[in-house]
Amino acid sequence: MKKIIISPSILSADFSDLSKDIAVIEDAGADWVHIDVMDGHFVPNITIGPAVVKSLRKTTKMPFDVHLMISEPEKYWREFQKAGADLITFHSEAKTDKKKLIEDIKASGIKAGISIKPATPVSEIENLLPYLDLVLVMTVEPGFGGQAFMENMLPKISELGKLIDNNKYNCLIEVDGGINAQTGMKCVEAGADVLVSGNYIFSAANPKEALKSLCK
Ligand code: DX5
Ligand code: ZN
Repeated sequence: MKKIIISPSILSADFSDLSKDIAVIEDAGADWVHIDVMDGHFVPNITIGPAVVKSLRKTTKMPFDVHLMISEPEKYWREFQKAGADLITFHSEAKTDKKKLIEDIKASGIKAGISIKPATPVSEIENLLPYLDLVLVMTVEPGFGGQAFMENMLPKISELGKLIDNNKYNCLIEVDGGINAQTGMKCVEAGADVLVSGNYIFSAANPKEALKSLCK
C-alpha cells in the first residue's frame, strides 16, 4: 500500500502555544504541518500571517504545507515562501493568472498546489495538472475547522486520481475538511495521498492516538 502523508492542521491547535502542539504532532509521526492562511475576504475568517510562519519555522524541520485561502495569492505568496513554506497551495477560485503563479512558486524552489472548493469541478484545473505538485480537494466549505465531511466529494477525488494515473502526472491529491479515521480511509480508497486533519487530532483526549488512527 502507498504511504499516506499526514498533514495536521494547526487551525485547531492552541494558538497561545503553537510550538508545543507542533512538537506533539511531530512526536506522533506527522509528516507535514498544514497552515491555514485566511484573509477575511476570500473566506469569512482571519488566521495566520507570514510573521507567525517565520517564528514557527525555527521550531521544527517538518515541511510547512501552507494553504492560502486569500483573494490575492499573487501578492502575498512570496512572504510565505520567505517565511519558510515548503509547499504553497492557492485557490483556483481566486482571480489570478494561475499558470504564472504556479510557475513563480516553483521557480522559487518550493512546491506549488491548487485547491478547489466543493462547488468547483475538476475540469476547472485539468489543464494545470501537468505543472502542479498537488491538488487540494476541499471536503468542507473553506473558512473554519470542525465542520462535517462532505461525502459527495469522494467522486471528485476518484476523478482526479484517474486523470493523474492515466496521464502519469507527478501530482499528489490532498483532502481537507472533516477528516477522521473513517472519512480519511474513504478518501484514501478514492485515491487521496495526503490527509489534512485539524479538529479530530487536536480536540482528541489523546492527539497522538488520533493521528495514528489516520494511518491505518
Ligand atoms: C478549513 C481549513 C482546514 C481545516 C480542517 O477551511 O482549510 O484545513 O483546518 O479542519 P478540520 O479537520 O477540523 O475540518
Ligand atoms: Zn486547510
